[in-house]
Amino acid sequence: MGVVVILGTGGTIAGTGPDPSAPWRYTAAQLSIDQLVSAVPGLAGVPLEARQVAQVDSKDMGWSVWQDLGRALAAELARDEVDGVVVTHGTDTLEETALLLHHLVDVPKPVVLTAAMRPATAVDADGPGNLRDAVGLVRAAAAQGRHGVVAVLAGRAWAGAEVRKAHSHEVDAFDGGGAPALAETDAQGQWPQAMPVWPAALARGWALLALARPPRVELVCSHADADGWLVDALLAHSRSGSPTERLRGLVVAATGHGTLHQGLEAALGRAEQAGVVVWRSSRTAQGGVLSREGDRWPAAGPVTAAQARVALLLSLLSPVA
Ligand code: SIN
Repeated sequence: MGVVVILGTGGTIAGTGPDPSAPWRYTAAQLSIDQLVSAVPGLAGVPLEARQVAQVDSKDMGWSVWQDLGRALAAELARDEVDGVVVTHGTDTLEETALLLHHLVDVPKPVVLTAAMRPATAVDADGPGNLRDAVGLVRAAAAQGRHGVVAVLAGRAWAGAEVRKAHSHEVDAFDGGGAPALAETDAQGQWPQAMPVWPAALARGWALLALARPPRVELVCSHADADGWLVDALLAHSRSGSPTERLRGLVVAATGHGTLHQGLEAALGRAEQAGVVVWRSSRTAQGGVLSREGDRWPAAGPVTAAQARVALLLSLLSPVA
């Protein structure tokens, strides 16, 4: 039996509050990864190693934490005795980190993100069960030869390129944007004996995280009265700033299947003329924007707008052939 490594980055799963019956009053990222692991009796006897990579509320997630996480993952996944890695994370930006890892992981081993909607001090904390399920999924995946990046919450495993937070406060808060879960635990909390093959990670490698600062990519939204004022303000600010800070990409969360307010579309055209790469995603909860003949700007595919921002940023660092 190989080792499962658990990397802690903070989040509500590591959060604490003063009143167990008022789980909405808490501070995220307080307990260490060792404390989280020792609170799950079901993990006793499993060969585990835990490391603290960061301790953040994931609303504050950013490039430097991703660099630290990338370094830790590269080192752990390269160890022969490691079957796979669990990453504990906040729920708020889990989908962005999951998409990032889906692009970068370059070793055929399971990487399972997990999180919690209630802090560790809540009477009905969901973190311990999610952590147990995540470790169980790494073990099941390693035994069945499954690999790739997935996220486990509330007894279901979602592909890293599809997972998203779909509810702001329910415990069962995640879905696949219309795509089904890859696997579900049974009534005993066990993963299926024969899981489907997981989507393979894109193996673009950790070197993409090497720059001290990523290219600046911003997110704008098409909406009633979206006349492009914000885009023009971004362009003006970008022109007056330092060259390293210059705006390089814009993802627009478009209406429906990629349509844009005409005022915003005109401003995006000006951005493109100024050298900014424009991609379209959708502000609609499911489906994203798929490519169609005659598109003025590339469609980001089924991912969320926040995930599209990560994908565009990576593509500016290294275009996909
Ligand atoms: C966070 O994303 O770190 C806080 C919220 C959560 O984990 O549910």
